[in-house]
Amino acid sequence: MAGTIRKAVFPAAGLGTRFLPATKAQPKEMLVLVDKPVIQYGVEEAVQSGVDNILIVTGRGKNAIEDHFDVAVELESYLEQRGKTEQLEEIRKITRLINVAYVRQGEPLGLGHAVLVAQNLIGDEPFAVILGDDVIDANPPALKQLIDVYQRVDGPVLAVERVPAEDVSSYGVVKIDESAGNLGRGVYRISDLVEKPRREDAPSNLAIIGRYILTPDIFPSLSAMASDQTGEIQLTNGLRHLLRSRPIYVCEIDGVRHDTGNKLGFLKALVYFALRRPDLAEPFRRYLETLDLKAGAGSRP
Ligand code: UTP
Repeated sequence: MAGTIRKAVFPAAGLGTRFLPATKAQPKEMLVLVDKPVIQYGVEEAVQSGVDNILIVTGRGKNAIEDHFDVAVELESYLEQRGKTEQLEEIRKITRLINVAYVRQGEPLGLGHAVLVAQNLIGDEPFAVILGDDVIDANPPALKQLIDVYQRVDGPVLAVERVPAEDVSSYGVVKIDESAGNLGRGVYRISDLVEKPRREDAPSNLAIIGRYILTPDIFPSLSAMASDQTGEIQLTNGLRHLLRSRPIYVCEIDGVRHDTGNKLGFLKALVYFALRRPDLAEPFRRYLETLDLKAGAGSRP
């Protein structure tokens, strides 16, 4: 029987170079979408999916993440004294709902390496991995969709999304095992996966996005991996190694994903989430409508 998913790993030790200079002294996970840092969207998704043990892989300069999920005694008593109960509840909610632990990745040696450093805190049980950059608006939450599939197939499940052919080279891309039969809508067994293939070499347009359910046998597979030409250990390569010894599944997520790890994706997410906020949607929409989008850069409303 498939085990319960109790823990979620958040690799957050990357350097965030695409957002420099913003990320020189501030982790990219703390960039704000409306009024919440990006990483909090992922943590809330984990909680809403029934996973409340949060394990964040951090590195140099990431202290703000720890402060964010810590109890802020002075701030709480300040808000309490002034009767600001709504804000008080908002900041208390997330820290009360989770058990959070941190593990340090000494050097950013890749996503696979980041997962490997979590091994001791994960132990011998299945677990989730959430890449906070991918913010997914979905109901049920994206991680819950994966967990439901995991309970049925009892093996690793990766979230995938169909992407345009010209974008496949930015992702890990999977090859579907056609012999596996019907596993349910959007669920497939895979026969291969390739990290960042050229468009002409891509085995499909099903790209791996930032949610995974993994089993503990991923750790020996990652340990067996050598660094690639960029000096990193890729999670995709570890999964490819694991695929030799057990079936791996993918699940197309039903929801809207934004990759906030690049500037355009971040801007799209910002507009998307602002328009979903009851307190902001109307005035923000009115403002957007005043913009002369055809006139291009530099034009004023
Ligand atoms: P990315 O490659 O998208 O993030 O890694 P990055 O390296 O921080 O950003 P750029 O490319 O320089 O702008 C995907 C996820 O894996 C984590 C990152 O923090 C991000 O959440 N990661 C990556 C690690 O935790 N450790 C690593 O060594 C590499």
